Amino acid sequence: MFSVKDKVVVITGGSSGIGKALVTEALARGARVATCARNPEKLQSFLVQQDRFFCFKADVSKEQDCKIFIDAVNDKWGGADVLINNAGISMRALFEDAELSVIKELMDVNFWGAIYCTKFALPAILERKGIIAGVSSIAGYRGLPGRTGYSASKFAMQGFLEALRTELLYSGVHVMWVSPGFTASNIRNVARSSDGSAQAETPLDESKLMSAEQCASIIMDGVEKRKRTIIMTGQGKLAVWLNKLLPSLADKLVYKHFLNEPDSPLKKY
Ligand SMILES: NC(=O)c1ccc[n+]([C@@H]2O[C@H](COP(=O)([O-])OP(=O)(O)OC[C@H]3O[C@@H](n4cnc5c(N)ncnc54)[C@H](OP(=O)(O)O)[C@@H]3O)[C@@H](O)[C@H]2O)c1
Repeated sequence: MFSVKDKVVVITGGSSGIGKALVTEALARGARVATCARNPEKLQSFLVQQDRFFCFKADVSKEQDCKIFIDAVNDKWGGADVLINNAGISMRALFEDAELSVIKELMDVNFWGAIYCTKFALPAILERKGIIAGVSSIAGYRGLPGRTGYSASKFAMQGFLEALRTELLYSGVHVMWVSPGFTASNIRNVARSSDGSAQAETPLDESKLMSAEQCASIIMDGVEKRKRTIIMTGQGKLAVWLNKLLPSLADKLVYKHFLNEPDSPLKKY
């Protein structure tokens, strides 16, 4: 089994939620960890482990920021063994109402951010026969209403990773993605509204969701076992299978689920 111990693990979006928990989990497993975020100061407490950890201020939607971040990893530790494309944002607005800039921002962060980091990290990962992972979502298998841009970005990410996995089939590099279910984090508070502003509150009871720590532990186990894909929850597995076998029924059930959320934008129709 692959072990992240003493390996260089690069995690994008490590300042909050699943990314922050991944940083903690990878450090606990003995990895050297580099992360980036637009607000890396949230990670000050980790800086005590300076020999094994560094964080970088970078906006993954900007190609140049990603290049500078990955160059810094290369300079400090010679290159990444594992890249986990985790940085992401969500949205909650009907497509009819959403400004196009919202959909573009979703693609820029969730899709292009993963493309840039993977592009710049790939030479070292090829040399080290390492691992490239994406933190996707059930929305990468099944479009979710009120999340058109989010679903598009996760479908795009999965398509990219699947194609890359096939290109790299005999290179020794492993490519994978993981699809958490609803996980407690900041994602719904900062999810974009129709005008691009943050929602500021979550429609879910976050205390009832999977914890970011449990999610990170499952992801890191999956990385070390070189899993192909992980769909983390029973609800997620059911949604993916139902969507394959009975897609019209899946439309209705998914619609009903999101209609029943507090302040659901679907109530407009
Ligand atoms: N939580 C869930 O229910 C759930 C379910 C399925 C999939 N996911 C996926 O899990 C991943 C992590 O989300 P989370 O739930 O942990 O959300 P979160 O608590 O909001 O954390 C998102 C992280 O991404 C970073 N980020 C956002 N935009 C960025 C940008 N432009 N450049 C660099 N970093 C950026 C944030 O840092 P800054 O704000 O400091 O930049 C933060 O560290 C996402 O890809 C999300 O789609 C989450």
